[in-house]
Amino acid sequence: MTHVLEARNLMRDYHVPGSLFRKARTVHALKGVSFKLDEGKTLAIVGESGCGKSTLGRILTLIDPATSGELLIDGRKVDIATERLTPEMRRKVQIVFQNPYGSLNPRQKIGDILAEPLVINTEVPAAERRDRAMAMLKKVGLEEKHYNRYPHMFSGGQRQRIAIARALMLNPKLLVLDEPVSALDLSVQAQVLNLLADLQDEFKLTYVFISHDLSVVRYIANDVMVMYYGEAVEYGSRDEVFSDPQHSYTKTLFAATPRADVASIKARLASKDAA
Ligand SMILES: Nc1ncnc2c1ncn2[C@@H]1O[C@H](COP(=O)(O)OP(=O)(O)OP(=O)(O)O)[C@@H](O)[C@H]1O
Ligand SMILES: [Mg+2]
Repeated sequence: MTHVLEARNLMRDYHVPGSLFRKARTVHALKGVSFKLDEGKTLAIVGESGCGKSTLGRILTLIDPATSGELLIDGRKVDIATERLTPEMRRKVQIVFQNPYGSLNPRQKIGDILAEPLVINTEVPAAERRDRAMAMLKKVGLEEKHYNRYPHMFSGGQRQRIAIARALMLNPKLLVLDEPVSALDLSVQAQVLNLLADLQDEFKLTYVFISHDLSVVRYIANDVMVMYYGEAVEYGSRDEVFSDPQHSYTKTLFAATPRADVASIKARLASKDAA
């Protein structure tokens, strides 16, 4: 079976130009990261600020090129530094950011925000674009009446639902979610995590879920990668990583996380399921 996503020794350097007081230097943001991910599964990427999570996320969604290494999507090698990608290839991978307000145009109505990926990437006629945007609004738990409203008229959780809906308009296979619930209240986090789980089942989506919150990771991940200064210091199934962390950094990270959070998130999800 081919993997939806495979990373082979991905590296990324940033060259930071010098100034009057500082010499030019190179930041090694990714120092060789490898993993394989199957359809319908979730890989969680954890690690402290600056360890390279978003850098990896941008490479996986074909926004930034890797400095070296190989990226395979659906078994096909993809190198945006050297090739022009087909719209079909770009459609397969989408990203959702932490702050949906920053990524939603405040002057666009929700319906237009959702239809835009279809306008840019497809020949789908206007009437069908509208139908598909309406259908997706409902899929993410919003209503038809929201179609003509503007982003500022929504709560943070609703805005994140809109960002998720937009990411799904082109039927991607892979979603990179970069801290998608970190800015939300705990109860809203649980609802959005629930929604993501439902959408994953329905559309057979593969997720790369970037987070610094271990309680969330424990709930959603199949596999876990712990990053530390641009390296994957831990990689394995969730149970392996959580029950028997190998690296001293992971042990410290786990020791610092209160376990009660896991229970509270699970309880919220369970009570919502029961409702
Ligand atoms: N465009 C850039 N130019 C120069 N350095 C960069 C650039 N983007 C990221 N970096 C550096 O690369 C490293 C990794 O950054 P990255 O944003 O991937 O971390 P992160 O794990 O996502 O952190 P956070 O949890 O704060 O979002 C950091 O040292 C950062 O300063
Ligand atoms: Mg980041």
